[in-house]
Amino acid sequence: MKICMIGTGYVGLVSGSCFADLGNTVLCVDKDVNKIKKLNNNEIPIYEPGLEEIVLKNFKSGRLKFTSNLSSAVKSSDIVFICVGTPTAKNGSANLKYVYEATKEISKNINKFKIIVNKSTVPVNTGDEVEKIILRRVNRKKFEVISNPEFLREGDAIRDFRFPDRIVVGTNNKLVLKIFKRIYEPLIKKGATFFSTNRRGAELIKYAANAFLATKISFINEIANLCEKTGVNVEDVAVGIGLDKRIGSRFLRAGPAYGGSCFPKDTRAITITAKKYKTNLSIINSVIKSNNNRINLLRKRVEKILLNKVKNKRITFLGVTFKANTDDMRGSTSLSMIPALNKMGAKIRYYDPTGEKKIFSNLKNVECSKNISFACYKTDLIIIHTEWDEFKSIDFKKISGKKSIKIFDMRNLYSTKDMKKKGIFYFSIGR
Ligand code: UDX
Ligand code: UDX
Repeated sequence: MKICMIGTGYVGLVSGSCFADLGNTVLCVDKDVNKIKKLNNNEIPIYEPGLEEIVLKNFKSGRLKFTSNLSSAVKSSDIVFICVGTPTAKNGSANLKYVYEATKEISKNINKFKIIVNKSTVPVNTGDEVEKIILRRVNRKKFEVISNPEFLREGDAIRDFRFPDRIVVGTNNKLVLKIFKRIYEPLIKKGATFFSTNRRGAELIKYAANAFLATKISFINEIANLCEKTGVNVEDVAVGIGLDKRIGSRFLRAGPAYGGSCFPKDTRAITITAKKYKTNLSIINSVIKSNNNRINLLRKRVEKILLNKVKNKRITFLGVTFKANTDDMRGSTSLSMIPALNKMGAKIRYYDPTGEKKIFSNLKNVECSKNISFACYKTDLIIIHTEWDEFKSIDFKKISGKKSIKIFDMRNLYSTKDMKKKGIFYFSIGR
């Protein structure tokens, strides 16, 4: 199959290179000329474990190509995936500007039958709009608009593509379904469930899935708050409830507020969709509120650990991205915590395996350290913000240069008992 991916961000680049790896010819298009230049020079613009190897392998074989020429890429393809971003608009809804712009461009280049696929996360009914836009120029028989949402976690995106729990395809067109079953056959053979429904159904599944996962996380985070007050270990609670198959053990890790490019954006967007259709998603509204409150709650906890004297204190952040194994800062708790503590007079040092973050470069007294030791040397409080593997066995006593060491471990990477034995003032989440 000849496939065109419009948008080579986290989703488009991962999906495009993985489709090429399954034997398809894939043309990845992006309006960012620099990005395309980099990719053609074998430079990978994002940090995603395993991605470079797949891109290089398929680029060399000629199955994966990068171009800014949308027109010729669409013309020569059978299937066109829309993978452009759908950021949050001012009112909290999904901004569909890029999706519609891409659609208009696609509609100018439909020279033979094409399947147009929305992989971007779009509110229910967007497929109908996309179809209407294309119909302005093109005969109905020459195209089919379908939904095939992505469920790729950053940092685990390659594995999630190759071994998905399920593949959701939204269309009523039997021929298109057959084609999609064929494309995904290698994954179905390995155990993925292929589930088809109508287009709107698939669109809503994506939002409902993300909202449910966000709910699970917020739920355990609130239980963690209760655990802290009652001398219970939240990890025991997570295991104890997760063993019930009706609940399931995954996505029950308590931590900072959930972040990323999807959960914060998608939970908000689905509540706006609900408003539009005059219904109330009160549970999801509460989850959003709970998650926002969590950032304040954690900041207050930091103040308490520092005995309410934040001014002039040196605070170290280990990891600033929203999760490990990604360079993505979108929706990270650190984005609000670092400026807030900085404003209160704290001097912040941070270390992140993916390097310095531009977003903090204008803040006075916020600096990036080259390594863990520099970051932790003579600091008043170490905050383990992100769960990178390299933070899991640090000899804090050796590197801190201080007698009294304080650590706030937001990811519960260490054992309270071990830390106590070492004489470290150790605070964690929900235990
Ligand atoms: C994706 C999805 O599209 C989004 O809906 C989902 O919720 C999260 O994942 P992501 O891949 O993370 O977004 O976005 P991003 O990394 O911002 O990449 C989007 C790419 O599309 C960029 O490289 C951008 O340059 C490109 N783009 C955008 C185009 O090529 N054309 C456009 O008109 C707009
Ligand atoms: C998410 C979806 O999981 C994925 O299917 C796709 O729709 C894109 O959005 P992503 O945001 O990349 O993926 O990462 P994910 O692993 O889901 O983590 C999101 C946030 O939840 C992170 O801040 C993470 O730290 C947090 N999280 C996750 C927890 O706090 N606890 C958990 O148990 C799991």
